[in-house]
Amino acid sequence: MSRIVIATRNPGKIKEFLPLLAPLGLEPVAAGALGLPEPEESAPDFAGNARIKALAAAKASGLPALADDSGLCVAAMGGAPGVRSARFAAGDYPAAFARILAAAGAAGEWRAWFTCALCHALPDGGTATYIGEAHGRLAPPQGGEGFGYDPIFIPDGYGESYAQLGAEVKDKISHRARAFAQFAAARRLAP
Ligand code: IMP
Repeated sequence: MSRIVIATRNPGKIKEFLPLLAPLGLEPVAAGALGLPEPEESAPDFAGNARIKALAAAKASGLPALADDSGLCVAAMGGAPGVRSARFAAGDYPAAFARILAAAGAAGEWRAWFTCALCHALPDGGTATYIGEAHGRLAPPQGGEGFGYDPIFIPDGYGESYAQLGAEVKDKISHRARAFAQFAAARRLAP
């Protein structure tokens, strides 16, 4: 097994990454456990922020690192909150759900999508970034599993929210799973 730093402090994301790594022969090391500093997410897009986080972790630890930057993009809000999803909620998800659903209701436009940029960085500065998207529609909050905006997002092809479908389904179809599948494929192609 080779060690790889998972550069996130979000327990929901860590839980989703862990089962994906072992089949690739990768042993995760949490950035928090190494006491790595958290860089400022100053880029205007998902890929830029994922790269900032992965590179900072790889350089500080001397190990390869993986970081994702992700968020919910709402059609009625012109793609917001997007990269600002965590800041938009500011820890109060019920209030954020209400603001998003009000915007969708006012516009009569319920489409939304999650995006995940996953960056693999090496201590020498090399990076590769993979983007995954999952499209669906917004609905009043339902279900208790998952994290963040999961209760208000119903993925295309399903009649229940991510928070109702739970990890078994979400881990197969989510934006994070899709970005990770590309990373896994690239590893298989590598000499
Ligand atoms: P980041 O840590 O800056 O990438 O912030 C990501 C934020 O986007 C999270 O804190 C959630 O608010 C939201 N988010 C990203 N992925 C998901 C997901 O799979 N489900 C629900 N919310 C998510």
